[in-house]
Amino acid sequence: MPQTNGVVSLYLKDFRSYGELVLDTRAQIIVITGENGRGKTNLLEAVSLLSPSKGIRKAKTTDLPKFGSKSWGVSAGVLHSIHGDLQFGVGDLGEETPKKIIRMNGETLKTHQDIGKMITQLWLTPAMDRFVVDAPSGRREFIDHIGWTFNLEHATHISTYEHAMKERSKLLKDGVRDKIWLESLEKTIAQMGVAIVSWRETVLVLLKKIIAELLIPSGFPRFELNFEGDIETLIQNKSALEAEAFFQEKLGLSRELDAIKGGSSMGPHRSDLSFLFCPKNTPGYLCSTGEQKILILGLVLSSIKLLELKSQGVPLLLLDEVIAHLDPIYRRILFDQIKNLKVQTWMTGIDIKDFQDLRSHSIYFSP
Ligand SMILES: Nc1ncnc2c1ncn2[C@@H]1O[C@H](COP(=O)(O)OP(=O)(O)O)[C@@H](O)[C@H]1O
Ligand SMILES: [Mg+2]
Repeated sequence: MPQTNGVVSLYLKDFRSYGELVLDTRAQIIVITGENGRGKTNLLEAVSLLSPSKGIRKAKTTDLPKFGSKSWGVSAGVLHSIHGDLQFGVGDLGEETPKKIIRMNGETLKTHQDIGKMITQLWLTPAMDRFVVDAPSGRREFIDHIGWTFNLEHATHISTYEHAMKERSKLLKDGVRDKIWLESLEKTIAQMGVAIVSWRETVLVLLKKIIAELLIPSGFPRFELNFEGDIETLIQNKSALEAEAFFQEKLGLSRELDAIKGGSSMGPHRSDLSFLFCPKNTPGYLCSTGEQKILILGLVLSSIKLLELKSQGVPLLLLDEVIAHLDPIYRRILFDQIKNLKVQTWMTGIDIKDFQDLRSHSIYFSP
């Protein structure tokens, strides 16, 4: 069986429906099957907590211990070709105030962000089924997450931008019209705004390259991704400096309007990622549920490949109930992609028979 970087052993203690579980996960693909309510998603959630985030369910820490228990723990042995074998532990000791603790090789990590440098995860869950049609913020956050995984400056630019925008909004709302103060904030907003949009464009260019070179040649349907917004249009025919100056000028002119409406009508917080399903030349939001699933899958698969190529961490892909919407042709395309990705992938589904074609790369588990 091909060996890839990833989780090689998993141990759960009093986590959700599990009292104690030890799993050998030395495979490229881990397939978890069983009827509803067996604990498949719980298992993916356990893996997803090996990250700075709240995991695939965005759960409160207090919901994680098995009913009747206060503490919980997830530990994992991780194979990492650069850093060797690593041991991670995530959990809560069950003291007065619930607190998620993350350990690496026995040492408690100072910031949860540190685990994100060693393990970079992406997941696709039923909760994301409406990703293509839901509010644009989810799509921006997805690309921004990919963006800062291999360029931490992107995260700094976003927080500086948001901070300056908030401060400007407060000044305008409070009736403060200090010219120098506002100009300095607007300059920061414009600089950060153009930097954010430019980096998103860079990420898209890289994703499009992977889509064209890896996904499409193996039969994945053609699709297009585009960021749309005022700044995106600006940087198409202006230099970064010109775009910043233009954006800053616009902000200066829209102070009174922004004072009433709050925020600003222009900026990267207004951009949206659009999809086009090429076989039918249909925009993503008009596609069928199954076609939308293909579009999100295309984005997720190309993104995890990008993380595998660009980030120092071990990439992990978690696919919860993904094949349910896919007909046999798309299932085969998905399976071929997953086998070729060289990224450890965790998949769940009801019927083990649906995953037969993955057996050369998989181990199977039924909770
Ligand atoms: N903290 C908890 N303690 C014990 N059981 C839990 C806890 N949280 C959720 N569960 C149970 O876990 C079960 C399985 O959930 P899940 O992993 O979502 O199943 P599925 O196999 O359908 O994905 C549910 O029936 C739920 O009641
Ligand atoms: Mg489930």
